Amino acid sequence: MDATGSDALVLFGATGDLAFRKIFPALQALVAHQGFEQPVVGVARSGLGLDALRQRLGASIDAHGDRADRAATERLLGLLRYVDGDYRDADTFYRMRQALGAARHPLHYLAVPPSLFPTVIDGIGDSGCAQGARVVVEKPFGRDLASAQALNRAAHRVFAEPSIFRIDHYLGKESVQNLLFFRFANAFLEPLWNRDHVEAIQVTMAEAFGVEGRGRFYEEVGAIRDVIQNHLLQVVAHLAMEPPVGEGAEALRDEKVKVFRGIRPLAASDVVRGQYAGYRDEDGVAPDSQVETFAALRLHLDSWRWAGVPFVLRAGKRLASTATEVRVFLKRPPQQVFREAVPPQSNYFRFRLGPDRMAIAIGARAKRSGVGMLGDDIELLVCNERGSQMGAYERLIGDAIRGDPTLFAREDGVEAAWRIVDPVLASSTPPIPYAPGSWGPAQADAQAAACGGWRAPSEG
Ligand code: BG6
Repeated sequence: MDATGSDALVLFGATGDLAFRKIFPALQALVAHQGFEQPVVGVARSGLGLDALRQRLGASIDAHGDRADRAATERLLGLLRYVDGDYRDADTFYRMRQALGAARHPLHYLAVPPSLFPTVIDGIGDSGCAQGARVVVEKPFGRDLASAQALNRAAHRVFAEPSIFRIDHYLGKESVQNLLFFRFANAFLEPLWNRDHVEAIQVTMAEAFGVEGRGRFYEEVGAIRDVIQNHLLQVVAHLAMEPPVGEGAEALRDEKVKVFRGIRPLAASDVVRGQYAGYRDEDGVAPDSQVETFAALRLHLDSWRWAGVPFVLRAGKRLASTATEVRVFLKRPPQQVFREAVPPQSNYFRFRLGPDRMAIAIGARAKRSGVGMLGDDIELLVCNERGSQMGAYERLIGDAIRGDPTLFAREDGVEAAWRIVDPVLASSTPPIPYAPGSWGPAQADAQAAACGGWRAPSEG
């Protein structure tokens, strides 16, 4: 780690679900691949001790990390310290400070429910542990525009903006980075990448599983807050942004914010919300819950480049498959040269963003062997990779430790993204029920009707 790197990591919410599923495995990977050797101070109010936390860390690696790399796990266990206490109690922060020992530049990671963010941030500030430190804040960052603004104010009371790292793990995904790389590292794409040649853009984030025991959390959010305001709008920003002018994190983040500002706030008619049958029986879910587990929407992007091009997005749980995929459809050739009419949407770029596979493909027509001038749809694969990519959390925590904000959401970006979804968050229209294993309610088809209907993510 370089000289400006954080010299300790404080993990608030150390006994929670996120630490178990994502953060401990990422720390193990950082130990294994990036020489991470700073103390890790877990903080939680669980009544557990260090031994119990060590056991939990071991179980987390077994379930979600590289269980074969025992050496890295042992090294990480050796870095672990623990402070048990209430976040409302100044003594908890005093003991955290003791546990930090000689560290002067800790990275505070807030893996706690959003309602606790201000309390923990104030506790860090009051204990004198904010000086020279950074803070990582997990999503969801607020639950609407007003609460995001209030959170930003609370964070700024203690930390300056360059020290605040708002996580959206989609930004750490190899496949999402490749979207940007493929667009701006090739010259052939740019002449096509606009309203003159692009007919429509579709993004599907489908998950075959349900809320997986996170019913209580999900009741507070729903699909729009959980994945659309953040993950999918970030994907849209990567697809729609102008090339950054100049170098560095801010040049890139400036362009993304411009995209968000160019998207019209959603109207009720832009959105179809659904709820899978059986959701109300999940643990922690209200029997009359109106929370959406599916949303399909159409965005209007008012920019010179994209005016009039439909951007349609859908995301949902308990759908027919698990895949996140983008399709950028090109317009049809202007004339029919051969006897056959070129089928619609046969020219496209396809970006598979995950979860298990990253691919970029180009859809085209090619002549079928034989006498006639007839064609087939073919796909050229630019890349198609399975597994072995650096985990998003490993990349992002490593970046935060090094102080690189490029892949983190900035204050103005987060607020601009909330501004888009804000008008539909308090919808009083009940979500439409849909069958598990389907593609959501049939009413969602209307959102994509103007661009040839929804395309299911590719099987191949
Ligand atoms: C999280 C959401 O941010 O992203 C989950 O809270 C969702 O509901 C998850 O399942 C999807 O992430 P990934 O990386 O598995 O596609």
